[in-house]
Amino acid sequence: MTDAVRAAGLRKTYGTGASAVVALDDVSLTLARGTVAALLGPSGAGKSTLIKALGFVSPADTGEVFFEDRLVVRDGVPLADLALLRRRHLGFVFQKANLTSFLNARENVQIACEFGGKGQGRARARELLGYLEVANREGSYPEMLSGGEQQRVAIARALANDPSLILADEPTAALDSVRSRIVMELFRKVAHERGAAVLVVTHDHRALEVFDVLYEMEDGKIRPYQRPRSAAATPAPSP
Ligand SMILES: Nc1ncnc2c1ncn2[C@@H]1O[C@H](COP(=O)(O)OP(=O)(O)O)[C@@H](O)[C@H]1O
Ligand SMILES: [Mg+2]
Repeated sequence: MTDAVRAAGLRKTYGTGASAVVALDDVSLTLARGTVAALLGPSGAGKSTLIKALGFVSPADTGEVFFEDRLVVRDGVPLADLALLRRRHLGFVFQKANLTSFLNARENVQIACEFGGKGQGRARARELLGYLEVANREGSYPEMLSGGEQQRVAIARALANDPSLILADEPTAALDSVRSRIVMELFRKVAHERGAAVLVVTHDHRALEVFDVLYEMEDGKIRPYQRPRSAAATPAPSP
């Protein structure tokens, strides 16, 4: 399995002097295509900072990021067209679906398909909504959708460019446990069937068996998370 992204020795500090916060403290991580990984850890641990560094949203101060084996960021300096990489190969899902309120579900996905340059926007949008099991809601506007349905549409939108890496920052924080599990299982399906690497930040410890690998962060450091004994476990590989 090829690696979608590999980070080596990421460090990031916010602020200076006495108020400085080390958000990433020598973080190394490899995400393979076809796998779904969870990132656990308390608030303030550095999870969102890591997602932003891996997603070329806001770089770390030092360290390297390889995208599909190509060095693309070194010590905060881009070595490739990161905006293009993001648009062509990455998908993002956040806590809030942030759908465009004046477009229906299908149109929300369709504009992303057209923006990503994959063509056949309408047919592709319908296919993706079907894949996320919300085809029946394609004509509905966001305010008419439940939170879980909105997140499925947001995931469909994130798949528009057929990404090799999907980054999801607390995508189920606003959902109840049943809907949360369904969304987590959809991420697993996307990773396994479409060959993407998927990294999901989550606080929900009830659906952990959905994931192939588990990490946790604390005070800017990352380590493999050891599952409770009852669940089948494969520890995260070392970076
Ligand atoms: N833009 C910022 N400016 C200053 N400090 C920040 C900023 N973003 C995050 N931090 C701090 O960095 C640490 C890690 O934050 P974050 O990555 O958002 O953690 P998490 O997502 O795990 O809750 C926290 O102490 C947070 O307060
Ligand atoms: Mg966060």
